[in-house]
Amino acid sequence: MNKKNNRTAVADRLRFFEEIGADFLFKEPRVRTVSAGGKRSPAPSGPKAAASKPVRSAAESGLDLPRSGRTLEEIAAEVRKCRKCPLAAGRTLAVPGEGHPKAQILFVGEGPGHDEDVQGRPFVGRAGQLLTKIIAAMGFERSEVFIANIVKCRPPENRVPHREEVEACAPYLLEQITVLRPRVIVTLGKTAVDFFIPNIKAMSSVRGIFQSWHGLSVMPTFHPSYLVRNEGNRELKKMVWDDMQNVMAFLRGE
Ligand code: URA
Repeated sequence: MNKKNNRTAVADRLRFFEEIGADFLFKEPRVRTVSAGGKRSPAPSGPKAAASKPVRSAAESGLDLPRSGRTLEEIAAEVRKCRKCPLAAGRTLAVPGEGHPKAQILFVGEGPGHDEDVQGRPFVGRAGQLLTKIIAAMGFERSEVFIANIVKCRPPENRVPHREEVEACAPYLLEQITVLRPRVIVTLGKTAVDFFIPNIKAMSSVRGIFQSWHGLSVMPTFHPSYLVRNEGNRELKKMVWDDMQNVMAFLRGE
């Protein structure tokens, strides 16, 4: 990595930590290195920081599923009226998801919480504010990415959605993905990664490692509410930043 790129990477990192309100700086640089052959090599910071290669080059949109004939707004309109599972009975508003119709990155969370249920928008509560800061630290506006959830209605007491609820809601997210055709899907937390990569034992076995799903690259990372709950834990923030750097490097075609 040349000096300018190195400076940019460090500045990005500082901005992220400033943005997320972290009151610390890390001693060791955790930026990607470029090997003699020009190939990406993982940052020398432990096994979990070493993301595998994404499945496609940055120039390709790898999704091997046919595009839906509907628009995102048409899908959202159906979600708002949906009564396919018991979660509909307890919701204030359904939360279809929002963002840019040509977003390169799709963030997928678990399901709406209280604030999202009231506003009908994804990730607007405390975890959402952190996600917005992470997105900003990556150099994007919220409106430039797409943010969705596995289930579109709030589970009672914010419990993990049941399998039948996930199955009932799955066609909406799948259809959104075929319309968006994002370059990368970032899954936030275990419920989201389980949807794409079933049968994983623990977040720790996949976090930070690009996974392949129907030809698309999926980057599993921690849920922002996990970071909020563990506010003083530097290591978690560091891991999420590593993951987001890998996503950004992929989008840059590195
Ligand atoms: N947590 C989620 O998983 N999704 C939201 O939209 C908000 C909080």
